[in-house]
Amino acid sequence: MNFDLDNELAMRHLDPQDMLGWVERFPEQVADAWARADAIRLPTSYQGKRHIVVLGMGGSAIGGDLLAALLETETQVPITVVRGYRLPAWVNADTLVIASSYSGNTEETLTGFEEALRRGAAVVALTTGGTLARLAEEKGVPVVMFPGGGQPRAAIGYSWILLLGIVQALDYYRLPGEARAEAAHVLDELNTAYGPRVPESANPAKQYARRAYNRVLFVLGAEHLTAVARRWKTQFNENSKQWAAYDELPELNHNTIVGTRAPTDLADHILLISLESPSHHARVQRRWDITATIFQRHKLPHLRLRAAGEHPFTQMMGLIHLGDFVSVYLAFLNGRDPSEIDNINYLKNELARHP
Ligand code: F6R
Repeated sequence: MNFDLDNELAMRHLDPQDMLGWVERFPEQVADAWARADAIRLPTSYQGKRHIVVLGMGGSAIGGDLLAALLETETQVPITVVRGYRLPAWVNADTLVIASSYSGNTEETLTGFEEALRRGAAVVALTTGGTLARLAEEKGVPVVMFPGGGQPRAAIGYSWILLLGIVQALDYYRLPGEARAEAAHVLDELNTAYGPRVPESANPAKQYARRAYNRVLFVLGAEHLTAVARRWKTQFNENSKQWAAYDELPELNHNTIVGTRAPTDLADHILLISLESPSHHARVQRRWDITATIFQRHKLPHLRLRAAGEHPFTQMMGLIHLGDFVSVYLAFLNGRDPSEIDNINYLKNELARHP
């Protein structure tokens, strides 16, 4: 906890795989991802499907949630994210299935990919290589490739923007040019404000990390920001090595706000973080205020964050960037390497021993 977040050398020392650098280069990654997205060409027979499914796990699944959240109010085609081995019964030849796996070796995603092909779905692979790229090539499935070299979760610029590129290439949805430009501008500004060279006294990302230290983190979202709340949760888990969960409004108004009495020392061990937006439904905005009053009454520490920018896409991008910075600074406060994922590797190795 006494870790000095203004000591860049000490941070780099804890970060041999340069997760902080990956976060700092996020705006560049997004720009490169857009250039690749605009170049995607796919068979016209993949257009006009009734349903879109994104298959993926962890850092390769969250792009699917972001896509579904952004497009929910924009397209007629429902988007479902499948995290697991089994496909819904309705997946068939009238479904576009995008199998997203950074490594290309995630068994749940590979199982779903094979099943989608058996069902005759229009399948696209999104990956940096591995078995998925090899199988796709063997079976004549189009592959959208992007550069590897880091952790899957650090490649969210690719795994999210390239999904937008796929739906754009197939005419399901096109993000307005103004939204792209606004997001790029906001990301550049935030990148400067949250970066490692800005001292903690003036750096909100470092300050939030310190508030989050040694607490169970509950990240609350609503509408398009629920997927971002989930991203924060997973970044706190994987980067910071800290327990975290997410919840969403208005649903949490019907249960979560009642669970405030136990453990009796809850207020000492929890931090609630709400991701709020001026674009939220007016009643949702009202609910944020009333919910905050309830938390206050129970003396539960609560950080209320408001998204920057006009377009929901910009708001999502800006808050993703903030969450990534906070999670990495929190890793340093915890004395942890933000890239290390020993427990995930152990689990994957154990599973591989018993195929
Ligand atoms: C690791 C990470 C994980 C992986 C997940 C699936 O950085 O974020 O959540 O994304 O284990 O692996 P891939 O992405 O290779 O399919």
